[in-house]
Parts: sequence; C-alpha cells; structure tokens
Amino acid sequence: MIQKIHHLSIAVRSLEDALRFYRDTLGLPVHKLATQEDQGVKAALLTIGQDEIELLEPLGPDTAVGRFLERRGEGLHHICLQTDDIDRDLAELKAKGVEFIDQEPRQGLAGRICFLHPRSTGGVLVELAQPQE
Ligand code: CO
Repeated sequence: MIQKIHHLSIAVRSLEDALRFYRDTLGLPVHKLATQEDQGVKAALLTIGQDEIELLEPLGPDTAVGRFLERRGEGLHHICLQTDDIDRDLAELKAKGVEFIDQEPRQGLAGRICFLHPRSTGGVLVELAQPQE
C-alpha cells in the first residue's frame, strides 16, 4: 500500500553548492551521504520532518542524472512514494497497465526501490520505496 511521500529528489550540478542552501541556509540536517557507482550519483539525504529531500549530483555526463541535467538543467528529478510492500504494489500496478523502468525491485538508498515510467505518471519520474531497518 502506498503510504506517504518518502522523499523529493533534486538534480544538482554540485552537491557542495546545493548543501550550502539546503543544509546551511535552510538548516536541514544531512543524515546520509553516499556514492552509488551503479546509479552514477553522489547523493545527500536531508531530513525534513518525517520526510526527506534527496540531492543528486551525477558522477559524469554519461549517467542518467548527467543526461537529465544536460536536457533540463537543475531541478526536481523525481518524487518517491513509500510503500509497505513493494512486491505487491509493483505487481498490482503492472496489472493495471502502469509502465515501469525497473521490472523488479532493486536495492537503492531508500531501501528496496523501483522507478515507474514518466509516460504513466503525467511526466513525473516516480520512485516506489520500501524502507528497510
Ligand atoms: Co530517490
């Protein structure tokens, strides 16, 4: 079941510059910094109430986020919806005709995740995540 917004994700050219605003100016605490080689990103997760803001800096121009920045510039990259059962939601949504980028859940920063195709979501990249302890 989809429960809430887990995080909003913003593509940035420089994590360091973005942290100057989100961490230093807004005062949001960073609770995780991680490099995900397989995703081609350096990420910072900031806490905002019970939710998160994720900042993504591409590791190079030939990554998904690198190409996104090239095409669209900095800005909102995706929203992430939290589920308590990603396997069930993925199967149910597929059965309803929703298109997915990931056909199976995989390990991501927010737990087990998968991305829906923007064709099915009104043009917004949507991630589903089932957090793990
Ligand atoms: Co995300």
